[in-house]
Amino acid sequence: MGKPVEIKPGVYWVGVNDYETKLFESLWSLPHGVSYNSYLILGEKKVLVDTVKAEYADELIENINSVIDVKELDYVIVNHLEPDHSGSLPEIVKNAPNVKIMGTSRAIDMVKSFFHLDQETISVRDGSTLDIGGKTLRFIEAPWLHWPETMFTYLVEDKILFPCDAFGSFGALSNKIFDDEVDLELFFSESKRYFATIVSKYSKFVLRAIEKVKNLGIDIEIIAPSHGPVYRKNPIKIVELFERWSRNAPEKRVVIVYGSMYGNTKKIAEVLEENINSEGIDTAVYNISYSDISFILSDLLNAPAVIFGCPTYDGNIFPPIRHLVNLLEIKRLQRKIIGLFGTYAWGEMHCHN
Ligand SMILES: Cc1cc2nc3c(=O)[nH]c(=O)nc-3n(C[C@H](O)[C@H](O)[C@H](O)COP(=O)(O)O)c2cc1C
Ligand SMILES: [Fe+2]
Ligand SMILES: [Fe+2]
Repeated sequence: MGKPVEIKPGVYWVGVNDYETKLFESLWSLPHGVSYNSYLILGEKKVLVDTVKAEYADELIENINSVIDVKELDYVIVNHLEPDHSGSLPEIVKNAPNVKIMGTSRAIDMVKSFFHLDQETISVRDGSTLDIGGKTLRFIEAPWLHWPETMFTYLVEDKILFPCDAFGSFGALSNKIFDDEVDLELFFSESKRYFATIVSKYSKFVLRAIEKVKNLGIDIEIIAPSHGPVYRKNPIKIVELFERWSRNAPEKRVVIVYGSMYGNTKKIAEVLEENINSEGIDTAVYNISYSDISFILSDLLNAPAVIFGCPTYDGNIFPPIRHLVNLLEIKRLQRKIIGLFGTYAWGEMHCHN
């Protein structure tokens, strides 16, 4: 559950906390849950920025109703169509029949193909603004973060940037939403894991979007992403972290990931670890079968070197290592020095069909 929190006069967090989903995108573990942040902005017109996962639509509507009557909504801004943010759109439309849906033209195309709604839609141009009476919204296209249709929304008078998934984090908010009231260390590590698993493939678009926003010369006091904390004390910190992760800034660390059925490959991993440590270099060592893959990816993100250890398995590499290598390719986490070691019992690594 989450109760609305006023961020600035007339701007509310009306999101929800999900402690039920075990795997985000059915892939990435959520030991601390996840939040879907939705925001209500009240000028003369009433605006909702992003919605929440479909299962939580009732809670979102309850949150909105505790501030205004949901029927009064004039606009819903769709920064991103992934269902963790757009899933409640049909319920919002049902409850607020006059609401207009706004997004990039790609987003509006996707709204139409996802939902078949009769609602009025408005495609916004990059840099265009919407005067809502007392407050102004500015739309900044930020494609491929991490889908093609994405944009940021900027609330001019209150200097709040709503960048949706950019600068997001795993971890639910349990009624404390600001960077100065949550366990930031935990959130920064959850944010890195979020970056590694969701955003890393699109690193160059992160850098492009940061550059673009910097060049706009707008003043940003608060960053309000669609997952994780709202940054009001030190908003630049999360931007710097995303920038560092995107640049693949190397940390002095070697990650060793091995599999082992009977302990032989494990022995080699241990000797390697000792030798590398004796050179004054830190190591992180993972037994792949008993480690959470999202934590391995997060640790691999800015590690300059990775060493894989695998026992030969039916004429092939040990299957979970193959899975990891595949993920590194998909997430474009490949720019690393690679080491390999392994063991075998009866000979060559080829299949006998
Ligand atoms: C299911 C299975 C399949 C194996 N396939 C091969 C193989 O194709 N070629 C080979 O030389 N050894 C094969 N081995 C032997 C292992 O690679 C060897 O025992 C290795 O040292 C095991 O390492 P570990 O003790 O770290 O599990 C296989 C072993 C098992 C249990
Ligand atoms: Fe997303
Ligand atoms: Fe998301």
